[in-house]
Amino acid sequence: MLLSLLLLPLGLVAAETGIDAWLRYAPIPEAHKYAGRIPTQVIALNSSDLSPVLTGAKELEQGISSIFGQSCNVNRWHGGHRGGAQRPTSSIVIGTVAEYSSYAAKDSKKPIPKLVNDGFYLDTTGREVLILGSNERGALYGAFEYLSLLAQGNVTKVAYASNPEVPIRWINQWDNLRDGGTHGSVERGYGGKSLFFWNGEVRPDLTRAAQYARLLASIGINAVVVNNVNANETILNSTNLDGVARIADVFRPYGVQLGLSLYFASPKALGALNTFDPLDQSVINWWTNITDEIYERVPDFAGYLVKANSEGQPGPLTYNRTLAQGANLFAKALQPHGGVCVFRAFVYDSTTINETVWADDRANAAVDFFDGLDDQFMDNVVVQIKYGPIDFQVREAVSPLFSHLRQTATSVELQITPEYLGQNVHLVYLAPLWKEILDFDLRVDGAPSTVKSIVNGTRFKNTLGGFAGVAGAGNNQTWLGSHLAMSNLYAYGKLAWNADADSVEMLQAWTKLTFSHDQKVIDTVTSMSMASWPAYEGFSGNLGIQTLTNILNGHYGPDPQSQENNPYGQWYRADATTIGMDRTVSNGTGNAGQYPPEVAAAYESVDTTPENLLLWFHHLPYTHVLKSGETIIQHFYNAHYNGSAVSNTFPAQWESLKPYIDTQRYEEQLFRLVYAAGHSLVWRDSINNYFFNVSSIADEQNRVLNHPYRIEAESMELEGYHPYLVHPFHAASGTYAIVTDNNSTQGSATASVPFPAGKYDVAVNYYDQVIGNATWELYLDDSLVGEWKGDFEYSVGSARVFYIDGQSAIRKTFKGVDVKANATVKIVGKGDGMEPAPVDYISFLPQGVVD
Ligand code: GCU
Repeated sequence: MLLSLLLLPLGLVAAETGIDAWLRYAPIPEAHKYAGRIPTQVIALNSSDLSPVLTGAKELEQGISSIFGQSCNVNRWHGGHRGGAQRPTSSIVIGTVAEYSSYAAKDSKKPIPKLVNDGFYLDTTGREVLILGSNERGALYGAFEYLSLLAQGNVTKVAYASNPEVPIRWINQWDNLRDGGTHGSVERGYGGKSLFFWNGEVRPDLTRAAQYARLLASIGINAVVVNNVNANETILNSTNLDGVARIADVFRPYGVQLGLSLYFASPKALGALNTFDPLDQSVINWWTNITDEIYERVPDFAGYLVKANSEGQPGPLTYNRTLAQGANLFAKALQPHGGVCVFRAFVYDSTTINETVWADDRANAAVDFFDGLDDQFMDNVVVQIKYGPIDFQVREAVSPLFSHLRQTATSVELQITPEYLGQNVHLVYLAPLWKEILDFDLRVDGAPSTVKSIVNGTRFKNTLGGFAGVAGAGNNQTWLGSHLAMSNLYAYGKLAWNADADSVEMLQAWTKLTFSHDQKVIDTVTSMSMASWPAYEGFSGNLGIQTLTNILNGHYGPDPQSQENNPYGQWYRADATTIGMDRTVSNGTGNAGQYPPEVAAAYESVDTTPENLLLWFHHLPYTHVLKSGETIIQHFYNAHYNGSAVSNTFPAQWESLKPYIDTQRYEEQLFRLVYAAGHSLVWRDSINNYFFNVSSIADEQNRVLNHPYRIEAESMELEGYHPYLVHPFHAASGTYAIVTDNNSTQGSATASVPFPAGKYDVAVNYYDQVIGNATWELYLDDSLVGEWKGDFEYSVGSARVFYIDGQSAIRKTFKGVDVKANATVKIVGKGDGMEPAPVDYISFLPQGVVD
């Protein structure tokens, strides 16, 4: 006991799981320095037991005692005597502005700046700390703000109002009611199972749902749509509506409202009507009744989210009605209750577009579908637009639809769960990407028209609008599947509150709250995170070509071929000499013309298109020379080498933080970073190999297809193993891997090591499918270097695949291995289930070499 007390100040902190995220309220270094400056009681003004005001008061009590080791008890004021000057202790007063005006004595009442809905005023300059909300939820936000300052060691005197820029600060969870769903229980979620649903119903125990609401309230989120946009009508049966009401009950003390995604054909699928035509009176009645029933159970219900006529979902177009008629059907039912219908602009028809038709372009879909509808939506409709016209790619032009809807409120849909960006196994800090979108100026009518000014309503004078973040949180202890990924959830909330928030400042505050006040931790996490999106773009799809991932299965590993020759429209139209989507008006799909004139003119010409979107808008020869002097193809090669090299610096950067971070979070993150560094090389080689194959243009630096430190598994002496032609071919070095002769038998591959004696990092590239748990052993001169199991699918939440391909490819590295002259290397693999212990190659890397 004594020993552990002595050790704690040295930073050997207790294990943490990550579940507390940035709300750990970790004891502050040198807490004694703050003695006497921290209030010792909280006065909660006229709050009911379930009020966010009381939640805020309790949060202050808990936070202050944990941060400063000092008690700060909650007292509730319900009118009458205030104690005034006689009060023995310094206090925090928390409540609404309205309650404050009855609480405060006339002579001591402070003037409160103007607050909008959900805004708050924080004043620490007086004897009493004031935390006043325009409403109860605002007061809770103020409490979290004050605690965030305290937890960062900031006790400077401040007095300011903070108002959210937008009313819609929503989270979309794509949770399926039943395990399985389209892609598992949380569609595109990598942090475990649904927090809300299990086995077709709402979970009996909603403890985690309440914790989630707390986390979200602390960053200003005011509503969560709890079920998948690919909705199931059973969400509306009466058992599930009762369950949904229970979710709303646990959300309410945090000021988080609940919303639901709808299945457009529910009147037919659930209500036994023979139609779901939005203009049919029986359908209108059906939705009106269901909506009334929801409000009976959930009086503060936020509203509906609707995905219609997209990716197989039914919608108004099924009956030749317009999207506006579809949206208004729900808006009308919600209107008497004050609810909002959020209608998604992610509408495209993958059955009618064809890559061989030069003018066909999925990027045109949203503007085409919404054309002419701007004046037809009811006032309580918000059109929710993905940031780009395709689908959450590593880089996209801003969706042109933002410039088309002026009378209709819009919100921007961002994806916190990085479906195409490494699925929280790779590190990708997304705030810089989002800010590029939010700050982009569409120049509507030649006037400043940033995306943020459009969704916050200032540009077109709309009162609704805002942000939707697809979060993908699940029930594992890390929420998103990775500790470092939580900066994305944090930054999302902060940007929804204030789109001008700075990427680095948000990251640094988050790091301090999540890990440590130590400057080394802050600097290192900042440097890694800020480098992460450019690195990922570098090896997964640059010059605006999109993320070259497997779009048919998993959206995770490299597979550029999967984007071409199918009707999904994520094409880049590569042939032997040229590449890129011609989206010009003069010669292409006309997509550039969907932007306002100044932007359209810039995109129309190769010279004025930003190079990071060059192949998004133009179809060019591989030999086209960029401003850097590189050709397009050489830029590809270089970017893939550079991006993966950056990813390969992350493990060592993180390792330098070992003394500062608790073991569990340190180890779990290191595991992911090491894996991701190896996988970035899989990406690099796969994409470079593919484009070399297509273009036949060699890498000027002779790196592509030239790996002097590798021994290809198929070239080794095989016993019980045989060569296997990998598909796609570029997902294996030398196009072949080896697999055991039968799924569950053992094989060995042996070779003499053609490198001089010395110390090497020995890397084995193998494949871990989800259909078994094969084992591998690596020997040098018959002594075991290491052994491992194909159980990766249990350690991370990224897409799991059956195939031997770029998604299942993994690198295992043994560092600093002494290799004797004329050594013999041997891999022994034992298949399991249907996993035949596949191996691609072994690398002997001299110190400092990455390949
Ligand atoms: C992407 C994603 C789907 C999702 C869809 C949507 O296509 O892969 O899982 O359903 O977007 O946003 O509706």
